[in-house]
Amino acid sequence: MKRLVVGNWKMNLSLGEAQLLAHAACRTAERLPQIDVVIAPSLPFLISIKDALRFTPPNFYLASQAVSPYSKGAYTGDVAAGQLTGVVSHVLVGHSERRRYHHESETVSAQIKQVLDAGMTPIVCFGEAKRNANVSPLLADLKRDVHGLDSQAIARCVFAYEPVWAIGTGVNATPSYIQTVVSRVLEWFQTELQETPMILYGGSINEDNADQIAAVKVVSGALVGGASLQGKSFDSICRSFASF
Ligand code: PGA
Repeated sequence: MKRLVVGNWKMNLSLGEAQLLAHAACRTAERLPQIDVVIAPSLPFLISIKDALRFTPPNFYLASQAVSPYSKGAYTGDVAAGQLTGVVSHVLVGHSERRRYHHESETVSAQIKQVLDAGMTPIVCFGEAKRNANVSPLLADLKRDVHGLDSQAIARCVFAYEPVWAIGTGVNATPSYIQTVVSRVLEWFQTELQETPMILYGGSINEDNADQIAAVKVVSGALVGGASLQGKSFDSICRSFASF
């Protein structure tokens, strides 16, 4: 399985800036065929970015940062998975900022199902709020998130371990901490669902720490926030994940 590096642009950039950065990410993907590269621009920019990037390498993908747990109806401001089909291939689900500001923890499993039913790949984010060596509470949360999914569904998901205390703080989890948590979560998936899904790491990844994190073999890639807003940093992080 190829490693995957995702750039989560959050609520940043103008359309012009987003188009330039998307071109840069596309060139990164072209130069690094050994990994997959995904970018998640703001929703209203997705179609024009897709149109502007007419010739994309096969390892380059677009993602949505959000999706509704419902298929259609009176949900002002939301976007349905079916409306994203044909525009993106991946969808971020359960990001800690969506959980915090939009109270989405309750709907993560419904959102995952919507994305899977629409034929796309959910990137399911999970992680503890406070630094804590005890993995049990985190597993309990994850269990709720994947409730009702069978092993076939799990195999179609990508997961992203993002300790909340590491997101946007400049303090990344150490490689040994990441190794411990991700291995424990993979064990749980193997025991409970007989599957070994891809688990990315996210939280203050930058060009200086990417090599160390990429060296953690159980990690299948990266979910990058702040550092994905600079083409050069994102390219450098992608190179790290391509070389280990
Ligand atoms: P960060 O964000 O890289 O800026 O910490 C990661 C994320 O929110 O996915």
